[in-house]
Amino acid sequence: MKAGIGLTDKNSQSVAGILNILLADEQVLYSKTRNYHWNYQGDNFMEMHKFYEGQYDELAEMIDQVAERIRMIGQFPEGRLKDFLALTRLEEQDYTTVQEEQLQNLLADHESIIISIRKIVDKIGETYKDQGSMDFVTGIMQQHEKMAWMISSYLP
Ligand SMILES: [Fe+2]
Repeated sequence: MKAGIGLTDKNSQSVAGILNILLADEQVLYSKTRNYHWNYQGDNFMEMHKFYEGQYDELAEMIDQVAERIRMIGQFPEGRLKDFLALTRLEEQDYTTVQEEQLQNLLADHESIIISIRKIVDKIGETYKDQGSMDFVTGIMQQHEKMAWMISSYLP
């Protein structure tokens, strides 16, 4: 399916490849955040339970936006869990119910996504001439920066 938006097919395929890896990372981070929403133990249980819920709700919305962005440039997003696991750069750790370990794991993932986006943002706009996706991923990066700040505010 070709989108008549002035992008070559080759360039839109390259951008979709980048966005599909981002989508996989977002899916894994969503799943990890939801895991901690369920499997938390502590005297501030309700606060952390709700905090994680706010974060995974935001990630769910971002996942949808990334997948739909891929359709907008004429390509198809991955949609199967096995594809996400094959593509993601993030790792799943052993189970933990400990606040600091959970937050450190999530923070590392947000930071890793931020650094990945920072590396590819100019390439999307300049090499692949997709200014729309360049602006889009910059917005996603900003959302991760805010989430990373919120998580780090709980850490010593
Ligand atoms: Fe819940």
